[in-house]
Amino acid sequence: MMNLKNTITTIALILCALSCKKQSDPVISIIPQPLKIEQSTGVFKLSRGIKIEVADKSALTDQVMFLKNRIQSATGLDPEVVNKARGKKISLSIEQGLEGMLGLEGYSLTVTKKEVKILATSPAGIFYGIQTLFQLLPPEIYSDKVTEGINWVIPVVRITDKPRFAWRGYMLDVSRHFFPASYIYQVMDYMAMHKLNTFHFHLVDDQGWRIEIKKYPRLTEIGAWRVNREDQHWNKREPQKPGEKADYGGFYTQDEIRQFVSHAAKRNIVIVPEIEMPAHATAPLAAYPEYSCTGDSLTVLPGGIWPCTNLYCAGKEETFTFLEDVLTEVIELFPSKYIHIGGDEADKSHWIKCKACQKRIKDEKLKDEKELQSYFVQRIEKFVNARGRQIIGWDEILEGGLAQNAAVMSWRGTEGGIASAKSGHPVVMTPTAYCYIDYYQAKPETQPLAIGGYLPLEKVYSFDPVPAGLSEEEAKMVLGAQANLWTEYIADPAHANYMTYPRLTAMSEVCWISPVNKNFEDFSTRLVQQFKRYDVMGIKYAVVTKDQLK
Ligand code: ACM
Ligand code: ZN
Repeated sequence: MMNLKNTITTIALILCALSCKKQSDPVISIIPQPLKIEQSTGVFKLSRGIKIEVADKSALTDQVMFLKNRIQSATGLDPEVVNKARGKKISLSIEQGLEGMLGLEGYSLTVTKKEVKILATSPAGIFYGIQTLFQLLPPEIYSDKVTEGINWVIPVVRITDKPRFAWRGYMLDVSRHFFPASYIYQVMDYMAMHKLNTFHFHLVDDQGWRIEIKKYPRLTEIGAWRVNREDQHWNKREPQKPGEKADYGGFYTQDEIRQFVSHAAKRNIVIVPEIEMPAHATAPLAAYPEYSCTGDSLTVLPGGIWPCTNLYCAGKEETFTFLEDVLTEVIELFPSKYIHIGGDEADKSHWIKCKACQKRIKDEKLKDEKELQSYFVQRIEKFVNARGRQIIGWDEILEGGLAQNAAVMSWRGTEGGIASAKSGHPVVMTPTAYCYIDYYQAKPETQPLAIGGYLPLEKVYSFDPVPAGLSEEEAKMVLGAQANLWTEYIADPAHANYMTYPRLTAMSEVCWISPVNKNFEDFSTRLVQQFKRYDVMGIKYAVVTKDQLK
């Protein structure tokens, strides 16, 4: 007869035997959360002799190298790439007929004790399957140095996954502050880790022109440089004085741009370049004042300006020749379907006083300066469309009549997005209240100086890119969503990372999963593991405590 103490011990041992088996299986923690995860007991171990199996190497060269290089860097193993493997392997294969289940970017990932198998309908899906595979491994898989003593195991699991939206975006403003080319590669690698696929490159603004244009060298000789007033508040910086040297800034050469585009393709990212017009044009007009209404000489601004009155003249034919020449080079460099033409915040006071602009209004039988902006945008749209591309612009391009094939980026709330979707125009949702990650993420007194606003992590997470009031058909016009990092108050990569993570982490889930599957508490739990990955990668993210929130 067992006494009570022995009985309790026996029960405890049985319970432990049951639960210990489960406890030994790694906890799955993936961001963005996959659509379906079915975990079983057991693990697959990355170990010597492991092979990467891929039937058609040429179709998946980039994906295979991405997988092989990461395993090599972090574990020291050297997986051989073969057409057909026996034994332990990670196999990658593209299969037709799965489009209904996986779409264009989805994947299925099956891990057994013997093998890992990633299936997809496209290289993009294979790439995302690999990204998920990394997140099934210990965080040290993200290291660029071999970490000794790690048990490189992957839980036995079946994952089926695909994104909710086709446009999963991040915008970086490289005009207000210039960011080195080395950071642009990092930005894209970090985006890819979060399964984000659209990098909106804000290359032009009043405070700097950042892309080499061969036909107009002064754009970067003059337009890329300003006086250094970094010791002063953004909104209190005096313009350049006569005799002062403008030596703060920088730009990307066309060779660098081509390398960005090539790297982006390897990471399933499209770079959408933005060339602002008709406003936010002080930098190009400092280089070529003949394309403004007044022709007055200007200098690149070292800080804030309001309102934005330095516009391209819409009356001069030469303005359009200039912009079309610039766009010709931009289109040649960037293969994206969309070219962003800005369109925001144009104060029309110079247009009102300009004889050429007023003549244009009369000749084209336009009602007012808002219609003149529409004329401007529609003329540029025709040029871009004739070269096989489409324009996208900030929601001001709706005013005065929207160009025929234009897509809209809805930033001043959701009204612009709703209007676009209802009129059959594609829209990307990026309203300030949920998507402007230059805003404070905690009480201002606990944070580095920012532009203002208040956008804590949970609010980003709560965003639904499909605004209420759209029918099912209209909702299909919502391409997706995007977080924007304006950099008036952000001068370097470390600060940019601090503002971006983990709010972009939340945005990645907003773009990937459906609202019914969203759960902020669960996301917060998974964030703990994500932070370990960031630690390994050297990303300095923000940690906000409850008492720092409003
Ligand atoms: C914007 O924030 N001016 C688009
Ligand atoms: Zn004018």
